[in-house]
Amino acid sequence: MKTVKELSTEEKLRLICGKGRWHTEDLGGKLPNVMVADGPVGLRMERKTEDGKTEAIPAVAYPAIQLLANTWSTECARQMGKCLAEDCLERGVDILLAPGVNIKRDPLNGRNFEYFSEDPYLAGTMAESYIGGLQSHGVGVCIKHFCANNSEYDRLHQTSDVDERTLREIYYVPFEIACKAKPVSVMCSYNRVNGTYAAEYKKGFDVLRGDFGFDGAIFSDWDAVRDRTASAKAGLDIEMPFNEGNYEKLVADYRAGKLSDEELDACAERVLNLVARCKEMRKGKKASSTEKERRREAMRIASEGIVLLKNEGVLPLAEGQSVFVCGSFAKATPYMISGGGSACVRWEEENFDLPEKLAARGFAVDYEKAFLVNDTGAWQNARTAVLKAGRSDVNIVCVGTGVGIEYEDGDRKTLRLPAVQERAILDTAAQNPNTVVVLFAGSAIDVSAWVDRVKAVVYAGFTGEGGDEAVADILTGKVNPSGKLSETFPLSIEDVPAANTYKCAGVTRYQDGLDVGYRYYDTYEVPVAFPFGHGLSYASFAYSGLTAVREGDIVKVTFEVENTSGAAGKEVAQVYVRECAPLVYRPLKELKGYAKAAIGAGGRKKYCVELPMRAFAHWSAASDRWEVTEGDYEILVGASSADIRLRAKVTLPEIQL
Ligand code: BGC
Repeated sequence: MKTVKELSTEEKLRLICGKGRWHTEDLGGKLPNVMVADGPVGLRMERKTEDGKTEAIPAVAYPAIQLLANTWSTECARQMGKCLAEDCLERGVDILLAPGVNIKRDPLNGRNFEYFSEDPYLAGTMAESYIGGLQSHGVGVCIKHFCANNSEYDRLHQTSDVDERTLREIYYVPFEIACKAKPVSVMCSYNRVNGTYAAEYKKGFDVLRGDFGFDGAIFSDWDAVRDRTASAKAGLDIEMPFNEGNYEKLVADYRAGKLSDEELDACAERVLNLVARCKEMRKGKKASSTEKERRREAMRIASEGIVLLKNEGVLPLAEGQSVFVCGSFAKATPYMISGGGSACVRWEEENFDLPEKLAARGFAVDYEKAFLVNDTGAWQNARTAVLKAGRSDVNIVCVGTGVGIEYEDGDRKTLRLPAVQERAILDTAAQNPNTVVVLFAGSAIDVSAWVDRVKAVVYAGFTGEGGDEAVADILTGKVNPSGKLSETFPLSIEDVPAANTYKCAGVTRYQDGLDVGYRYYDTYEVPVAFPFGHGLSYASFAYSGLTAVREGDIVKVTFEVENTSGAAGKEVAQVYVRECAPLVYRPLKELKGYAKAAIGAGGRKKYCVELPMRAFAHWSAASDRWEVTEGDYEILVGASSADIRLRAKVTLPEIQL
């Protein structure tokens, strides 16, 4: 392995710019290099067809990150990371360009399906496990997009104007937590942060490296570099993809003394280290499972993340019931049930067929496509569907969004489903009181037009290719639903703070500050359709026996959950913290811990969650550090952010972290 001292200046300048679209530079074979590929919901690689076109190579399509987050299971996150690592090992990929950990500040953000949550603790901890799964199996990650990249609108120019405390408490946090898993790389975002391009955001890079212990390399997002010299000075190590013009300008700038040798060496050294680390990490690693087994895992993870939003006794389906299924999502074609852009995976297995999977589980099933995603005309001819809905015991309407609505480089226009889909729900539900809506969407939907007219809502999300099996298992009760929402479903877009803050052609002002998602709805008592953390089960759970005891640097929280039903299930319990008499503004409560456990029918489980002092601290703008204010803190344990079951108090002294 060469060191930076053994390279000429020209070689170093070349090294800090990528080679083509997907490799780091190898100086004509003098150096080893690495290959990168997208992420995060499956491996997206391209090949040239005989007629010179570029096409995606099929790969296992896992559930979208949004659905993974709804599992609230770090085991699932780790397992998905492991499976993805094995896909990468088999295809020669050293670094997966994943995961995306940006906060869902605005439910309309076109890339929300790629991100974990509106809550930074949930996003960070799930990402940490996902990264652990990938890197412990030999494949590096590239966490993205640093930072404050929370909408796609005019993403190459927008500045996210956000204050330091909000960055520290909300937008940096997922990166900070993810850094505990020692990611080999981070990718900057396209947008500007407080006026400075993210590719040149030295202050942020210094926080990553200085405060969060990040010791890897920083990649640019693809074509995010405007001025290679400025970005190198800021500490951005690799520009991707290779850009001839930017490279020539960099060389000229160096010659003109605009980039110092120390600055150049720092970046070049980190590129060398990155490659060496990836090669070392990969040594002796081989896939231990087949693609078929990984598809099974994808399906299992999807079934663990599917959220039962509403159920008035109609689910699970009862044996012998006749079922009518309508909507094109039930027999999805590839790309239908996924978001668009760099995270879009070409499915390996293309037979997505929910009616068939229900029939295979012993139900009499009839199906009508009846409507497409957006085509209003299709529903006008759907009299057959309405008639059939009326004649069956249960009517299942499959609706959603997909690549045409949720995609990179643009935001959704509305939180509502396309009119034809709302119409289909309302018209069939009018004929059949036992109507179930299955929602295939990558982010929150405004359900207000139809939710009161149906008996059950299953939020399937972007399930990946095993989604038909996963949804069938949930509907029939083979799998007891245990997913919970990682983002709020607001009543309407008007209620979302981000929708009401200042935005012009170039500037998005984060005047909502810390009030993102449930932090806002709870504090200001704004009603929502389905709260953060919500998710029903076919079982029922009772919480009891909360204790919260300070033991040195942690507060140990324990409680018990009893399964009071006759069905085995899994319960995600959430631990929120509230400062009783804060000296600075604090949202009403914030998630600081969670745990998921399987509990047999009639069984009990003890939950134990340890809260470090950081769980109680705020970022002090007065002294630029984390501080715990002396006083009382409430520990709130709940089944969702709106369903708090237990409360306890701890008293803490003043602490500077
Ligand atoms: C996206 C990144 C992606 C990269 C490479 C960019 O447009 O923002 O998330 O990794 O392309 O495909």
